[in-house]
Amino acid sequence: MTTITLFTAPQIRAQRDALSQLLIDCVNDGASVSFMLPMTGDKAQTFWTRVADSAARAERLVLIALDAQQQITGTVQLILDQPENQPHRADVAKLLVSPAARRQGIAQKLMAELEKQAADQHKSVLVLDTATGSGAEIFYQQTGWQRVGDIPDYALMPDGASCSTTYYYKQMNIK
Ligand SMILES: CC(C)(COP(=O)(O)OP(=O)(O)OC[C@H]1O[C@@H](n2cnc3c(N)ncnc32)[C@H](O)[C@@H]1OP(=O)(O)O)[C@@H](O)C(=O)NCCC(=O)NCCS
Repeated sequence: MTTITLFTAPQIRAQRDALSQLLIDCVNDGASVSFMLPMTGDKAQTFWTRVADSAARAERLVLIALDAQQQITGTVQLILDQPENQPHRADVAKLLVSPAARRQGIAQKLMAELEKQAADQHKSVLVLDTATGSGAEIFYQQTGWQRVGDIPDYALMPDGASCSTTYYYKQMNIK
């Protein structure tokens, strides 16, 4: 059974090793999530240290999926910190599910909770981008995200191949 928990900055720091392993596993599996091969423990630890610092400043929310044994199987972030003319908008970043735990609905649960958190924060427009043609693209299309368009040659895949990025948005009914 999967539970979704909002991690505080101290919790992120305490679980940095497990979160780093999740990131390393996803990059080694080919995910285009800002990192190149070889993916190292140092790069992953630095990433999560910065995420914890940012969470401590209330710039972002970090959601964690835990299995029945309280092991981390997935994560996603809601970036709250936006320019003053976009107080109603947030970005979604680093949706990661362990390659060993995929196609069990964990990403769906993470994103459902993320949308609840976004509504609580009065965020009515959510934006994300993902590698064109990836499994993540199919996931977002299946879960109600509106495709905006592609930017060719936006990034590199972990192995150095050129990668197009596709932008998506979701408008939320918030009360
Ligand atoms: C994309 C990702 C988060 C999906 O996680 P997941 O927990 O396996 O997704 P779910 O089980 O919740 O999938 C729900 C539905 O989305 C679709 N889907 C998810 N992954 C898919 C894939 N690789 N290919 C095709 N459809 C997919 C399916 O319709 C799936 O339902 P089904 O399993 O009953 O067919 C995961 O593959 C991942 O971490 N990828 C690498 C990192 C990444 O690219 N993240 C996005 C960055 S923006």
